[in-house]
Amino acid sequence: MPYQNIETLSWLGGTDGTLRLIDQTLLPSEVKEIDCRSVETVWEAIKKLRVRGAPAIGISAAYGVITGMQTLPQEDSLDAFKKRLNEVTEYLASSRPTAVNLFWALDRMKAKAESLYGQVPVSELAECLLAEAQTIHEEDRTICRAIGKHGQDIIKNGDTFLTHCNAGGLATADYGTALAVFFAAAESGKKISVYADETRPLLQGARLTAWELMQRGIDVTLICDSMAALVMRQGKINGVIVGADRIAANGDTANKIGTYSAAVNAKVHNVPFYVAAPVSTFDLTLPDGSLIPIEERLADEITNGFGKRTAPEGVKVYNPAFDVTPAELITGIITERGIISPVNTENVKRRVR
Ligand code: MRU
Repeated sequence: MPYQNIETLSWLGGTDGTLRLIDQTLLPSEVKEIDCRSVETVWEAIKKLRVRGAPAIGISAAYGVITGMQTLPQEDSLDAFKKRLNEVTEYLASSRPTAVNLFWALDRMKAKAESLYGQVPVSELAECLLAEAQTIHEEDRTICRAIGKHGQDIIKNGDTFLTHCNAGGLATADYGTALAVFFAAAESGKKISVYADETRPLLQGARLTAWELMQRGIDVTLICDSMAALVMRQGKINGVIVGADRIAANGDTANKIGTYSAAVNAKVHNVPFYVAAPVSTFDLTLPDGSLIPIEERLADEITNGFGKRTAPEGVKVYNPAFDVTPAELITGIITERGIISPVNTENVKRRVR
């Protein structure tokens, strides 16, 4: 099934509608859509990575709010609406801790509701919230194109770049952040090749990035994460671009586990290392990356990944899903407002405020 014809996520219907997602846990062997008809199924889809990637998580949570409000009887009071909205947003916020876009989207939905209380009848609030979720979704499309446009100049004709995890159309409304830069460069006529880290333990690089790049006709070579240093030493890599889940005020960047290793390897081999992310991924309340909450996931993702036991029963496991790359290892952060470089608190503030 051609990927271009399927949306990463879409809302079907009006305020009584459903959130349709590509179930990314099944990719690349199966391209299957699932319909989330309740806030519980949206929560589960985020938790289990059926939908994943910071911007896509934020958009899904915004639509998740609509599914959560559907259980409120039409004739209920403003107080009941406020109470339910709080319950729903708190519940969705508990799905995953690291990607700040989740909290950003939920805050935006709450702020929208608060701006309308007393201004529009309670019976019309859900409709206004749906419009806000759709705006968040639509804005993300525009933002991703702008990231691609701003980033494409860092790529020269014939370059080969490395990426880690998946920061593509599957992680956003469409087009992606890191991958948007590759797409925009290719669309401008440059010949570009990509090395994709497979991204242990859940293989977002192998299952999603390699698949997405192939769908779009971009030359891609899959490597194990542990091979990145070697290919850099062999002179095969002109630059690295990755996405981000949360960027602190000084530019320290949380992204998929293994990103920090890629940045250290890039530094040692004198390879420029870029992060591509929307402004909504910055968390200016955190002065540096040491305060970013890092999700820890279940041991069986490492010991029993994809249904095959690969470690002894009972072995101790540590499974952080993200790491933080210090700002000093980052050449630039590509946003929809341009590139932040050098990466420091002053330059972040100037661009993101
Ligand atoms: O655990 P995941 O798959 O949600 O992690 C995703 C990433 O780390 C992405 O690089 C990040 O969210 C940016 S997506 C544009």
